[in-house]
Amino acid sequence: MTDQAQLHQQLIDSMTANGSLRTEPWKRAVETIARHEFLRTGFFRRLDGAVPSAWAPVLEGDAGWLEACYEDESLVTQIAGTIMPADIRGQIMRDPTSSSTLPSLVVRMLEDLQVVEPESKVLEIGTGTGYSTAVLCARLGEEYVTSIEYDEEVAARARTALGRRGMYPTLVSGDGLLGYADGAPYDRVIATCGVRTVPAAWIEQTRPGGLILTTIGGWLGSSELARLTVHDNGTATGPLLSGQVSFMLARPHTPPALGLLPDLSEGKEREAIIGTDALNDWTYRFVVQLAAPHAQHLTMERDGRTEHVLIDVESGSWAALYEEDGRWIVRQDGPNALWDAAEEQLGRWHAAGTPALEEFTVSVTPQGQTINW
Ligand SMILES: C[S@@+](CC[C@H](N)C(=O)[O-])C[C@H]1O[C@@H](n2cnc3c(N)ncnc32)[C@H](O)[C@@H]1O
Repeated sequence: MTDQAQLHQQLIDSMTANGSLRTEPWKRAVETIARHEFLRTGFFRRLDGAVPSAWAPVLEGDAGWLEACYEDESLVTQIAGTIMPADIRGQIMRDPTSSSTLPSLVVRMLEDLQVVEPESKVLEIGTGTGYSTAVLCARLGEEYVTSIEYDEEVAARARTALGRRGMYPTLVSGDGLLGYADGAPYDRVIATCGVRTVPAAWIEQTRPGGLILTTIGGWLGSSELARLTVHDNGTATGPLLSGQVSFMLARPHTPPALGLLPDLSEGKEREAIIGTDALNDWTYRFVVQLAAPHAQHLTMERDGRTEHVLIDVESGSWAALYEEDGRWIVRQDGPNALWDAAEEQLGRWHAAGTPALEEFTVSVTPQGQTINW
């Protein structure tokens, strides 16, 4: 066995042992697709301990490149919307914009997609390197797979990697939030980028009874995988699944720049019932995100103390919280009292017994998306 074959087999064994790779047909598909073939243009390695995060390129042939391709880790493949690993020497401190998702999450999602053979037509949003697209093709056949990538250069590289492998699914470069009507109806939609709300186009382009698997997230950085069933009446409902699944948000759903901050010294002050330490918890953060969907979180030093600020740049609403003598104080201003809304939502969630995210259900109708427990 070559080094590569051995590394590939070890990855398959570990994904089988940890329960993400559960069924024979997906196992056979994963066995036929070598991940390193989709990482030939390299990736970025996060530098230990750097604040803010710093990334250094690792190119094919560099020490550790092949081994990393078969680790169960996400590998960043593009930064700041344009920069590929071969573009720089040294390090870069901007945000990742494309990656190869950790393989165990790819296969867990493919298992969760519950494809029914033969002839399950799948629409994938977020082609990225093309690795997950290749696994879909290996299982279903390229004629049943359509994949959309927002970024033209990323899409072109995936097309090359898939072509080298002899795979020619329908690849589209564009905004996956619009779906791809020419290939509809689909039996399954799977998104490997997160969304704040499930786009209407995905529901319209999925046949009744079909499934949409996507991560629903927001600007406070919490998210979870959801599996929705599409109904005859054009609505879709379903549960959140478990695992604290997180993906980079679809590009049109990323938060606006904070810009010039409003004057945070004015505003109405009161003692808070709940402090922003609650935001350290994934589920609390998800619940607050539902109450204040346009809020972003930052911390600031002011009058010798740390203030946690939620700010909605669209409406100009903000809430600043700080701890004093063991109490939390909130000061807020703008048309929406953000922390009032957050506390009210957290209060309802507490009254229901703090259900876990997998007890939440998502409902999408032409009127919009609601998430309840
Ligand atoms: C985590 S990566 C995808 C991983 C990929 N499935 C793989 O196995 O390598 C997410 C991708 O979604 C793409 N993306 C972001 N917003 C998108 C959108 N609105 N439509 C289509 N693709 C989008 C990003 O450019 C990025 O390449």
